[in-house]
Amino acid sequence: MLDQTFRSFSATVVKRLTSIKSATSTVAIATALAIGTPMSTQAQDVKGNAAEGEKKNAMCVGCHGIIDYKTGFPDVHRVPKLHGQNARYIVAALGDYKQGQRKHPSMRAVAQTLTDQDMADLGAYFESAHAGAKVAATTVDPGPAKAVLDKAGCPACHGANFNQPIDPGYPKLAGQHSDYLYYALRAYQHNDRAFIGRGNPIMGGMVKQLSNQDLKTLAHYLESLNGDLATIQASRLR
Ligand code: HEC
Ligand code: HEC
Repeated sequence: MLDQTFRSFSATVVKRLTSIKSATSTVAIATALAIGTPMSTQAQDVKGNAAEGEKKNAMCVGCHGIIDYKTGFPDVHRVPKLHGQNARYIVAALGDYKQGQRKHPSMRAVAQTLTDQDMADLGAYFESAHAGAKVAATTVDPGPAKAVLDKAGCPACHGANFNQPIDPGYPKLAGQHSDYLYYALRAYQHNDRAFIGRGNPIMGGMVKQLSNQDLKTLAHYLESLNGDLATIQASRLR
């Protein structure tokens, strides 16, 4: 319920902000930060157990336990790396699939089967299961991405290195698959589309100002950064 209140409140604020032409991204960010607190409080309600989460991960390894595994519907892209991701962000994302604020069909079906305790356990497991900072496989000229980042103000929430967001309810992005990141950013731009949209009001406001080329530039740059995110191959999980 707190969650619902937060969402409708923040949606209203973001809508109002984006309708004011002079609102700079700095104002939007400050407001989003100020209203960001209830989301974190709600995610803390259930305590996760990483050992239990590791068992429940059996439902996930068919996709998230295979390095570079690609999904084919509704679009072709690699599935996101989850190992090393923030627990609170994982819990929030799973809740959004379950409630339909994120519309991806296979993750909606998976999330329907999970209780709040399952989500907390899975979050604790993925956060704890990482092999330490990874060195990214690709290098990218940061110039074009920096220009977009300066305009949009992404590090204000996701952190300067995109591996330490200012709130653990926000995702780490460094080293995430670029084709997934591009797909996710487009999902925030197309919340009206069945099977694709994401309704998060903060990110919806952020991506409005960006072109398709901007999204591609950012996705490739973020993948080239070193960070904690990884996919641990299922056969290596004992
Ligand atoms: C059939 C393949 C499949 C299975 C099984 C699956 N996932 Fe996913 N998962 C995906 C795809 C595809 C996405 C990207 C969805 C999107 O675009 O929103 C995803 C996204 C996610 C995300 C969002 C990640 C992010 O960075 O925002 C989380 C969290 C997640 N899955 C957790 C799980 C957990 C936990 C399980 C097991 C209980 C699981 N998934 C099982 C395919 C799968
Ligand atoms: C005001 C804080 C804030 C700012 C500024 C911000 N983000 Fe986010 N970002 C978030 C939050 C919160 C989420 C989680 C949204 C959700 O639950 O769907 C998120 C999610 C994302 C995701 C999805 C990650 C995944 O694993 O699915 C991407 C990609 C992303 N942000 C990129 C960006 C980029 C690029 C910018 C700059 C254009 C940016 N963000 C600016 C707060 C912010």
